[in-house]
Amino acid sequence: MALSGSSPATDGWSSRTAFVLAAIGSAVGLGNLVRFPAEAGANGGGAFVLFYIFCVILIGLPVLLSETLIGRHGQSSAPESVRKVAEQSGASQKWEWVAGLGVLSGFLVLGFYGVIGGWVLDYIWLFMKDLLATGISGPAFQGVPVEEVEGFFPAMISNGPVTVICNTLFLLVTFAFVVRGVSGGIEKAAVWLMPSFFVLLVGITIFGAFRGAFSESVAYLFTFEPEKLTGPVMLAAVGQAFFSLSLGMAGMITYGAYVGRNVNLAGTSAIIGAADTSVALIAGVCIFPIVFAAGLAPNGGLGLMFQTLPHAFQEMPGGSLIGLAFFVMVGFAALTSSIALMEVPTAWLIDKFRLARPVAAVIVLLGGGVLGALSALSMGVLADFHPLGFIPMFEGLGVLDTLDTLTGKLLMPIGAILVAVFVGWVADRRLVDLENGLSGVLHLFFLFLVRFACPLALIAILLAGIFPDLLV
Ligand code: TRP
Repeated sequence: MALSGSSPATDGWSSRTAFVLAAIGSAVGLGNLVRFPAEAGANGGGAFVLFYIFCVILIGLPVLLSETLIGRHGQSSAPESVRKVAEQSGASQKWEWVAGLGVLSGFLVLGFYGVIGGWVLDYIWLFMKDLLATGISGPAFQGVPVEEVEGFFPAMISNGPVTVICNTLFLLVTFAFVVRGVSGGIEKAAVWLMPSFFVLLVGITIFGAFRGAFSESVAYLFTFEPEKLTGPVMLAAVGQAFFSLSLGMAGMITYGAYVGRNVNLAGTSAIIGAADTSVALIAGVCIFPIVFAAGLAPNGGLGLMFQTLPHAFQEMPGGSLIGLAFFVMVGFAALTSSIALMEVPTAWLIDKFRLARPVAAVIVLLGGGVLGALSALSMGVLADFHPLGFIPMFEGLGVLDTLDTLTGKLLMPIGAILVAVFVGWVADRRLVDLENGLSGVLHLFFLFLVRFACPLALIAILLAGIFPDLLV
């Protein structure tokens, strides 16, 4: 039995740094900047945040390492990589369906991620117009009543033509990178956009810190009140950790396939996890001072980014410029994640049907465009269309929320449970040892986590997602 990996894919990351930046680019996205602060706000701050960090380390990282090691060993699209590992482990090749499911969920996430990316584009446009009108030192939206500023958001999301056009634009930009391949396109986006993202994030955070309310925000995010650590809060934290690390959707298997054999996957996964978590925390420390300084409440949900923050920028000298910089930063992060989301099904089409990359990428673009248009319209003309409404957990949900729930509450946990079980129980131990770069106690600890802790925690979030009444 050959345990060495297959010959390297023809296209791949040109260096370890490129891989690290691209994987961080995939992980850092709307999940960190929009979902994390919103979830932290909705789940009472500190208790959520600390449990989140705990989940990333003990449950997220082992699955992240499992995904990258499958990819690196298989050097193919996600299902094909799983199939190769299964074959070399003497297991059923049907395991490839695990990653097949991941490819499907990656595609379905793309079908709503681009809509939110499109909203971000629209806000960039809004702030650009405002900046031209006010100049760089003025607050945003001078003289515009608060209700109107907060009203931009509901007006935008229910405006069919605007959301469909913005979603299409966002997907076209994503496509422009994916179509150029791994080293020629995807990597370029990561290498340019991620460093710019970090500069903006740190700059805006420092600016926000000088505005005051910094210690209030830090206290809010990091004060641990054990009584707040309830079942729903813990599950929200596990779910958020997996979404944020791009797990359970074949994303890291796909990116792992482009990694050279000389890279230590355990160390690299730790860097990716640490970077993703730091960005989420810094995003919290960046957003909450701006909100608190304006005397606003850290409410949860999308309103935090698209209503509360614009209002806060209205109260802030230079708010017009900072607001623009903020949404450009969010746009960069969203783009590198949607590139990964588009690459997952594209790589599969190339592998499975021997398509040329441009053909495969166009198919995913068109499919994602149609799904995205339906999602975009679900806050407008399609508001009463509930595609899976006959199933209790999807009752009353429009297309966008249906895709979010289907992927986040069902496909992601199922995909991640199966990856952990596959690496922990099914894959040949020697192959896993060879790829993961761990030794001694750490290696045993990794095996313990993928075999027991990860599947159990993920089964809990799957059950709680399907039967929410279990938790109350
Ligand atoms: N992690 C991304 C974010 O935080 C979103 C995401 C979820 C993703 N699953 C993925 C990205 C799979 C790429 C591949 O925004």
